[in-house]
Amino acid sequence: MDKLSKANSYKEENHVSKDELPMFHVTPPCGWMNDPNGFSVYQGKVHLFYQFHPYSEIWGPMHWGHCETEDFIRWTELPVALAPDQSYDDAGCFSGSGIETEKGHLLVYTGVIEKEEDGEKKTYQNQCLAWGDGEQYRKYEQNPVITGEMLPEHFSREHFRDPKIWKEEDGYYMVVGNKTDQGKPQVVLFFSKDSIEWQYVSVLASDQDGTLGSMWECPDFFCLDGSYILLTSPQDLCADQEFHNGNNSVYYMGVYDRAQHNFHYQDVHSLDDGLDFYASQTMLASDGRRILIGWMQSWDSNIRPADQKWACMMTIPRELQLKQGRLLQNPVREFENYHKNEVVYKGKRISGMRQLAGIEGRILDMTIEIQSGDYREFTIAFAQNEKYQTSFTIRRDKNQIEIDRTYSGMVRDAISIRRVNARTTLKTCKIRMIMDKYSAEIFLNDGEQVFSNTFYTPMEADAISFYCDGTVIADIVKYDISMS
Ligand code: FRU
Repeated sequence: MDKLSKANSYKEENHVSKDELPMFHVTPPCGWMNDPNGFSVYQGKVHLFYQFHPYSEIWGPMHWGHCETEDFIRWTELPVALAPDQSYDDAGCFSGSGIETEKGHLLVYTGVIEKEEDGEKKTYQNQCLAWGDGEQYRKYEQNPVITGEMLPEHFSREHFRDPKIWKEEDGYYMVVGNKTDQGKPQVVLFFSKDSIEWQYVSVLASDQDGTLGSMWECPDFFCLDGSYILLTSPQDLCADQEFHNGNNSVYYMGVYDRAQHNFHYQDVHSLDDGLDFYASQTMLASDGRRILIGWMQSWDSNIRPADQKWACMMTIPRELQLKQGRLLQNPVREFENYHKNEVVYKGKRISGMRQLAGIEGRILDMTIEIQSGDYREFTIAFAQNEKYQTSFTIRRDKNQIEIDRTYSGMVRDAISIRRVNARTTLKTCKIRMIMDKYSAEIFLNDGEQVFSNTFYTPMEADAISFYCDGTVIADIVKYDISMS
């Protein structure tokens, strides 16, 4: 049996039951998932592919899993789209992107090969194409269309991956993650008139002062509300005020010199300040919204229960906006169509430890808006019972936020706390929390800062408590989420 059919029949036979999976987050049907890929519109539907290893719950030779949606929330699973079955990609079909063309739905991905050279194993990464009808995809006979040989001298052929394609009036553009032989991370730009024959254009951006890690994975470049934004996921960042150690996902804001095809960034910020976020990708929805989705996991923490037959999930898709020079991220508005059972508290006074009738559960959308108060610390503890809890704390005196899942029940969870500075003063504070069984995505102050976290706490831990060391007066609105 060929590798694609094998992957498809394996996933059918080993499909995890829907009840075990989160309700509205994309997960693999079985096995392992990492980066979102090919997030794009084709024939009016939104398609999402992902790095997929069906055969085990750990990373392995990469396939592309596939699903589609009409509203970013209710997803339909489709057959595996790509398997590592050709001489130019047999060590993996790595991350890439998708776009609608006259010839069908075009996927661009990194074909990875490994060769023995002078007694050493060498890896090469090249860019490849596949076209499809939204369900079945066929690789281009003349792959790869971009090889490392097309790069200038002293650019790595081993670390050359994750193409993101878009179209402009004069043709197609593609950014790819790369680094120099000296280990300086950079994003390189390619151009093609017809999406098949490509030429190298420029280094779009590179690490200007040597502080931004070793390799920029999963680049994305787009114009949002009149300003250019570059996204990358740098490996090996050293923690400072803004970033945590290890792999981060960041956005750069700056000026795009169109004539030279250089992007000069002035600001770099963390995209997400939770414990689990990496390798995000955006798409342009048919109505003009720029939507981002990320892998709600990272390489440095693997905390799932040993007997769970699926590994990792995506974030909820988020709408991006630029307001007064700040990137705002908020859950897609379609999510609100699934609200059920509203519970409202107006002007609720919380002092000490408090639970509120109707405020509990593991699949919900809850907003707490602090109207006034005199306090240093305010905590929301969730996925809670006598034994377990995960918490989100506002430390107003230090202007810091802390996520703590030390007690979420995961025995291998070494990186269980993240503490970051708040982007704005925490005088007023609106906390929106979306939970879906094993995750909580927290949007602070209408998306000024986002915290994405997973926790694999037994489902019976479904209490929510508030704690305040002084007093807060808050409005609270909570909805259950129902897909039936
Ligand atoms: C990012 C990444 C990509 C690569 C893929 C492999 O998480 O390392 O750079 O294409 O994962 O699965």
